[in-house]
Amino acid sequence: MKSNNSFFDNTFININGEIVSPQNAKISVLDRGFLYGDSVYEVAYSKNRKLFFFEDHLNRLYTSANLLQMNITYTRDELIKECLKTLKVSNITNAYIRIILTRGESELSLDPTQSKKNNLVIIVKPKPQHNQDFYRSGIKLKVVSILRNDSRSTNPEAKSGNYLNNVMAITEAKNLGFNDAIMLNSDQNITEGSSFNVWLIKSDIVFTPSANAGLLLGITREKIIEICNTNNIKLIIKDLTVQDVSEADEAFITSSTREVMPIGLIDDKVFDLKQNNTTKRLQALFKEFLLSRSNGLEY
Ligand code: PDD
Repeated sequence: MKSNNSFFDNTFININGEIVSPQNAKISVLDRGFLYGDSVYEVAYSKNRKLFFFEDHLNRLYTSANLLQMNITYTRDELIKECLKTLKVSNITNAYIRIILTRGESELSLDPTQSKKNNLVIIVKPKPQHNQDFYRSGIKLKVVSILRNDSRSTNPEAKSGNYLNNVMAITEAKNLGFNDAIMLNSDQNITEGSSFNVWLIKSDIVFTPSANAGLLLGITREKIIEICNTNNIKLIIKDLTVQDVSEADEAFITSSTREVMPIGLIDDKVFDLKQNNTTKRLQALFKEFLLSRSNGLEY
């Protein structure tokens, strides 16, 4: 039945293998994902019914689960089968796909050994169109006071369902009139954005923070590193500070849904998008790279 809400009409949900309407997509309030953010997730996408870098996303899902000592009770083949099934039912050509695995249900106890079986939720919807102004004029980012969590607490390399620091970060940035946030670590080094990796360019050299800063190892980040290496673009992975921002010529962000998006402003540092040739080159190289990698899973 069609609802009055296009989000509901265009969204397809799989819960533990069963495709349900968004209105009926329900998880127990005793699920640990709901109670504690005790879950892992991935966001991948398709173009022309082909999934991109899906193996990388599944690998990271397992890495995230390992970092949280969460047992995945679904096999890899089952996860792939359920994703393809949901995509097929959706019939969406260019899809956004979110895979969520929670540690499962338990009594009201922090003790994770109580839950024996994950809850799997797959959400498929059309790939979102990011604000095209951001690609023309650059996204405006604020280095916020909320810190990215320390690697010795919930490791930021795990894509866990606990994004409350990131939610607070984007809230702070928006309240100050910016579009989104960059977070520092406790050493005052740049980590990443609320849901994207951050890059600076100075004298045609590309810089991005290393994993030691405490960040999610983005799949798009990995591909940009590969692209720099194969195209003789000098890349340095090192600690970056707010001082480095003020001295940079260009800056951009990356994520699966955004690809390569230019930054127009970080705090009070303005980037002139008429002068961002290296960013433009990487945008074009990434598009080419996608075409060359279009032999992934299909539905
Ligand atoms: N976000 N850093 C964080 C904190 C992220 O949540 C993401 C992804 C990235 C970029 O990773 P990738 O290139 O693999 O998409 C970096 C996704 C898109 C999201 O949560 O919607």
